[in-house]
Amino acid sequence: MSKKKLLDIFNATVYRDEKKVFDQLSLSIKCGESAVIIGPNGAGKSSLLKLLSREIYPISKEGSFVKILGKQLPTLWDLRKKIGLISADLQAIFVPDISGLGVVVSGLHNSIGLFSHQEITDSELKRGKKILEYLGIQDLANCRYRQMSTGQQRICLLGRALIHNPDHLILDEPTSGLDVRATHQYLKIIRELLCSGKTILLATHHINEIPPEIERVILIKEGKIFDDDKKEILFTDDKISEFFNIPLKISCSNGYYQVCPEKT
Ligand SMILES: Nc1ncnc2c1ncn2[C@@H]1O[C@H](COP(=O)(O)OP(=O)(O)OP(=O)(O)O)[C@@H](O)[C@H]1O
Ligand SMILES: [Mg+2]
Repeated sequence: MSKKKLLDIFNATVYRDEKKVFDQLSLSIKCGESAVIIGPNGAGKSSLLKLLSREIYPISKEGSFVKILGKQLPTLWDLRKKIGLISADLQAIFVPDISGLGVVVSGLHNSIGLFSHQEITDSELKRGKKILEYLGIQDLANCRYRQMSTGQQRICLLGRALIHNPDHLILDEPTSGLDVRATHQYLKIIRELLCSGKTILLATHHINEIPPEIERVILIKEGKIFDDDKKEILFTDDKISEFFNIPLKISCSNGYYQVCPEKT
């Protein structure tokens, strides 16, 4: 029996304002099948992830669909419990005075802050503290969001995404702006999550940060799937040079790939 699909897109056309981002896009990703999405700026990576997180929608058209976990119209509440999300957009809109613990607990309420009308229970706070402990950031529990560094905010948001213990995670450029140490800490946790069976969809510009556990690569360019295959197949000098339209050399060490300009 085939595995359940996390994402099943058929012939979807998507606009963002006046811009047609996808024209008859089809793509399917099974539960448990982590993938990395790579493409130049403006290619449509974030838009693809936003289709999955239901932040944007396709136009309604006979015969086309976007199904998430088998449903065309999943409830957002259900979705947020099953799919954790981290993106720079989310990081940017968070309420600045919230504490680190508050950021994590807000995931249970699907909010971007904690507000006076929300009742936060002791058991929710306990869950939040456990997550902070798991991530090794207990010291951020009482720190204000606006006083945190980019990396500290990002790791709190990872905690927020994890508080429902979701089976799937959407990570849109999770390490952008992080220093080497913070990047490595982040990647270590992502690798642990992959090993524990979570499906991760990761959009990144950093080929050298793709966890070895992720095999599938989706190359997107100008709103179209340029190619979609295993790393070993797509990460060759020829393919990657053709994709980025510049001569490149790609090498692999310990399961990590590295792209360099070809010597001229
Ligand atoms: N809020 C928006 N309103 C209108 N158009 C948008 C909006 N966000 C993105 N777009 C357009 O949609 C297209 C795809 O953008 P998207 O953000 O998905 O690209 P991306 O691959 O994530 O790029 P980047 O690597 O820069 O993050 C681009 O042409 C962009 O200009
Ligand atoms: Mg993007």
